Amino acid sequence: MSARSQDQQFADFVRRNIESAGRDEDFRRQSQAWVQASIRHNYAQNFTWLGRPAIQVPQDLYAVQELIWACRPDLVIETGIAHGGSLVMSASMLALVDYCDAVAAGGPFDPRASRRKVVGVDIDIRPHNKAAIDSHPLRHKITAIQGSSVAPEVLDQIARHADGHDRVMVFLDSNHTHDHVLQELELYAPFVSQGSYCVVWDTGVEDLPADMCADRPWGKGDNPKTAVWEYMRRLKDEDRTARDGAALRFDYDYTIEHKIMITASPDGFLKRV
Ligand SMILES: C[S@@+](CC[C@H](N)C(=O)[O-])C[C@H]1O[C@@H](n2cnc3c(N)ncnc32)[C@H](O)[C@@H]1O
Repeated sequence: MSARSQDQQFADFVRRNIESAGRDEDFRRQSQAWVQASIRHNYAQNFTWLGRPAIQVPQDLYAVQELIWACRPDLVIETGIAHGGSLVMSASMLALVDYCDAVAAGGPFDPRASRRKVVGVDIDIRPHNKAAIDSHPLRHKITAIQGSSVAPEVLDQIARHADGHDRVMVFLDSNHTHDHVLQELELYAPFVSQGSYCVVWDTGVEDLPADMCADRPWGKGDNPKTAVWEYMRRLKDEDRTARDGAALRFDYDYTIEHKIMITASPDGFLKRV
């Protein structure tokens, strides 16, 4: 059997695994219970990526790795920087894609020549986080903007960064209220290029017991998942146009959440189709 058909056979095996996991209600319930228990211990805050705290469930970062490798964006836009870990994660994946391209082309590798970049926005970039991002070896791939993700002047800066980039991926991870995320979806989803993703983090808030978000402005009925549902309804019932001029359509990519099972973001992986 050729290497190609062996690869295909393995890919088919994985696809069937994922489909069967997705149908397994008990596995899904246990995964959800695991996520809830982990939140009580702030589990997602315990990890770093290349030295910076990334406030993500590790399985979700594994999904990011697969998405960036598959879509090969030349721009990643992120809302919500915090300690900078997710920015560094995206920057590191873009750097690896650069490196692999250079190896495949057999040419020299100049890390600063690439157009692949990540731009992030946060309303409050704390001085120690800014200093750590500024001194990170991947700094040349990162732009960090301070301001509200929905402020017009921030959007102007993001739009300037997006000019000339035609493979764009978006991660939304700032204020998790319904209204804010819905506004972010309206503003940022049109940047996403065909076949790429808008990932809305922390949609799982909708599935938590009410007491788990008692000290937060978001909670059941008012969170990233309700915003995604409303945005997807709007896309279906009303027209929206992407920045590339084409009609904007997204599908829920359930393959990802059925693959990783443990995720902070069910219904949060939106693929532009
Ligand atoms: C969950 S953290 C981001 C975590 C980061 N993406 C990571 O994975 O490490 C949320 C961040 O959103 C920021 N934030 C809150 N409201 C915001 C807004 N209106 N615009 C931009 N950022 C905001 C907070 O300051 C906080 O740093």
